Amino acid sequence: MEEKKDNRKTEQLEQHKNQQKDKFITTNQGVRVNDTQNSLTAGERGPTLMEDFMFREKMTHFDHERIPERVVHARGAGAHGYFQVYEPMKAVTKADFLQDPDAKIPVFVRFSTVVGFRGSTDLARDVRGFAVKFYTDEGNYDLVGNNIPVFFIQDAMKFPDLIHAVKPEADNEIPQASTAHDTFWDFISLMPESIHMIMWAMSDRAIPRSYRMMEGFGVHTFRFVNDAGKSTLVKFHWKPLLGVHGVLWDEAQKISGENPDFHRQDLWEAIENGNYPEFELGVQMVAEEDMDRFDFDLLDPTKIIPEELVPVVRIGKMVLNRNPDNFFAETEQIAFHPGNIVPGIDFTNDPLLQGRLFSYLDTQLIRLGGPNFHEIPINRPISSALNNQRDGFMRQEINKGKNHYHPNSIEGGCPFQAKMREGGFTTYTEKIEGRKVRTRSKSFSDFFSQATLFYNSQTPIEKKHMIDAFSFELGKVKRERIRERMVGLLTQVDHELSEKVAARLGMDSPPEPEKPINKGVPADAGAEEFEPVYV
Ligand code: HEM
Repeated sequence: MEEKKDNRKTEQLEQHKNQQKDKFITTNQGVRVNDTQNSLTAGERGPTLMEDFMFREKMTHFDHERIPERVVHARGAGAHGYFQVYEPMKAVTKADFLQDPDAKIPVFVRFSTVVGFRGSTDLARDVRGFAVKFYTDEGNYDLVGNNIPVFFIQDAMKFPDLIHAVKPEADNEIPQASTAHDTFWDFISLMPESIHMIMWAMSDRAIPRSYRMMEGFGVHTFRFVNDAGKSTLVKFHWKPLLGVHGVLWDEAQKISGENPDFHRQDLWEAIENGNYPEFELGVQMVAEEDMDRFDFDLLDPTKIIPEELVPVVRIGKMVLNRNPDNFFAETEQIAFHPGNIVPGIDFTNDPLLQGRLFSYLDTQLIRLGGPNFHEIPINRPISSALNNQRDGFMRQEINKGKNHYHPNSIEGGCPFQAKMREGGFTTYTEKIEGRKVRTRSKSFSDFFSQATLFYNSQTPIEKKHMIDAFSFELGKVKRERIRERMVGLLTQVDHELSEKVAARLGMDSPPEPEKPINKGVPADAGAEEFEPVYV
């Protein structure tokens, strides 16, 4: 039974493999081909004939082999595996895949860099994507996370600007996979909410040793919802059992030159050799009533919940034990979407998350060629997808019946409508009221306290690496005013840090800030005011 669950996605994928060994080559219409080397010509030295359908079909298919790369996270590596929960999570969530410790839930994971193109180096200083698709009996659940627990911006409206700034400069498409350029630091220096994330991005976290040795984070606060409809706020973590390791910047540069596929190869070979990467799923849980008890806003994606305040409870383990059969079919065509959730999990009003809920499906409609990409084998749920949607480019499903609408009293109509209200996903009935506004809550306005908290959590050598990173990256920035603004922001995080970076950049030492901007309440405030939720 266990094995069966583990293999269900694999079995589904097997049906789509071209396994015809020792058979003849045919055209796509099934006609046997007698020569794939020579085109049909008029005479031995004459022109190729238009009627050569074997040549035309072969060449046309080749001409259309590429699809657009992802607008971000273009470069990645994927793996199959399974997830098993340690204990039933019934008290806090009704999610079926979090109940049975004997059940192995099939997963596909894609790790990625964010900035670089598909052919860029694995070792760039960058955030890493950590996206997991759980193929559950209740449908696909996607936990689309990063290896850094916070994000650059608080509102999805700013995402296109952030990405335009971080991608290569528009006139010459330089630099390809690096944050060492004016447009990126210009944006960051004008966007102080990004300073916490920038501290992580300039730390050793941004040059991991291996995809097997980095943490993953859901970043936003999500919800668990139990059978009684009670909601518990939750932050998701992935903890690698090999620990968290980085490489030095000098090492990263050498590796990039010698083997830009270093992380891909490491993941592939570890799995081939049976050293299966393992990650524990951790959750930080906060009772709904305690949402406002922190000195930061749980809806603000530039904030962590310090683990001293709410411990990370490890609730299950993911094992990656099988490499993909085909990079394009699986790793490239997989479509993750934070909006793919299952009963027992729900969203919060984090304004970054809310915007992501629109963006992923929208981009995949063009990247994967229309509205039927859920039918691509790697994206298919192992539970059935049954509804009245039909037609569109590349439709595979043959919808039966005279018509496809609901409600429907015509004989031979939609067969599934009768069961519509039995079970199924129901949205958490959060109470919402307010005026329509385009202003961010003041509770989002402390940009610096957690940046300082992070800097202070680093060892002296890790701090030195961060000073080196800032000095290297800002040293590439041509415009003095951008460097000055950045050093000014660093002064708000840690004065000594800004002095050291300024000295390395040959700039005057910045004045110590008289009054820190928007510094919030001490990081341990609120610690005694609420009880973390345990299962
Ligand atoms: C990929 C948008 C923030 C993690 C993508 C893609 C888009 C996108 C358009 C390409 C998807 C595709 O082509 O399949 C956004 C927007 C964001 C945002 C609009 C903020 C408003 C985040 C955050 C995280 C994240 C906060 C981490 C928690 C990822 C990952 C991928 C991705 C891991 C790659 C998934 C894969 O491997 O296929 N994002 N993103 N993104 N995003 Fe975001």
